[in-house]
Amino acid sequence: MNLSPIIAGLWRLHEWGLDVPARVRWIEQALELGITSFDHADIYGGYTVESLFGEALAAAPGLRERLQIVTKCGIKLQHPARPQHALKSYDSSREHVLASVDNSLRALRTDRIELLLLHRPDLLMQPDELADTCRRLLAAGKVLRFGVSNHTPGQVAMLRKRIDLATHQIEFSPLQMKALADGTLEQCVDLGLRPMIWSPLAGGRLFTAHDEQSQRVRAVLHELAARHGVAPATLAYAWILRHPARPWPITGSGRIEALREAVAALPLQLPAEDWYRVWQASMGHELP
Ligand SMILES: NC(=O)c1ccc[n+]([C@@H]2O[C@H](COP(=O)([O-])OP(=O)(O)OC[C@H]3O[C@@H](n4cnc5c(N)ncnc54)[C@H](OP(=O)(O)O)[C@@H]3O)[C@@H](O)[C@H]2O)c1
Repeated sequence: MNLSPIIAGLWRLHEWGLDVPARVRWIEQALELGITSFDHADIYGGYTVESLFGEALAAAPGLRERLQIVTKCGIKLQHPARPQHALKSYDSSREHVLASVDNSLRALRTDRIELLLLHRPDLLMQPDELADTCRRLLAAGKVLRFGVSNHTPGQVAMLRKRIDLATHQIEFSPLQMKALADGTLEQCVDLGLRPMIWSPLAGGRLFTAHDEQSQRVRAVLHELAARHGVAPATLAYAWILRHPARPWPITGSGRIEALREAVAALPLQLPAEDWYRVWQASMGHELP
């Protein structure tokens, strides 16, 4: 899968207060940093973020060929934009996925989505039907690759028998290490399934939270960052990138400087002992 080593996440784009020219400039600056992949979901910003991005693409048509669009489907929010949803639910049915992709293509003002992810595991999923839906989208040229997000290793194994999965998008950060313990990252290594990483800075809590775990981790990040001559956020990205699953971290910030700090982690090869220092600070105890 051809994604940039750091991916820009757009979950919060509607909060950044950017008019169309500023959105175009923001995308251009990300591209200048080598960030060419942009992570969306149909639901972001209450079903508005894809349109905000699409307006920028329409205003600067040369941009589209220089970037890859990732988007997601499968969550039905109860929201004024979708009055037909009576309850929050997950839906991987053919009808929902096909309609969602058509909505995303319209909103993004594009004819194709490079990577479509099933956002959350639908407990009523019929994997053969989903595989057939994927084949239809591929044949129509609407979606080029498929992946999943927030699935269990068992769900990934079931789907991978039927669909050529390009990634598993998961939460992972120095404050959220569940994927190290529940088999998710082992499965990624085993299958060569490179994970995309959401909330790599724990949604900002890494730098703002006051609980004991955050304070311990922050102290170690600052110490290691000073030793390596980088920003603490850069150290956090380097910690994620050090995992053998070869993760693709997704930034969440609207600040170009924060994107620059993420990219600065790419040449940094963290010594294993430094990696374990962060692990220990997060867990609050030594290795057994
Ligand atoms: N698949 C899923 O279920 C799922 C779930 C959540 C997110 N995602 C994707 O993952 C992306 C990233 O998630 P996230 O937004 O939670 O990422 P994050 O990088 O962990 O958090 C970003 C937040 O941290 C703040 N922040 C505080 N200090 C920062 C610093 N030193 N450097 C950078 N940011 C700092 C940012 O504020 P400023 O803007 O002020 O810098 C921003 O509000 C999302 O945009 C979305 O595309 C996917």
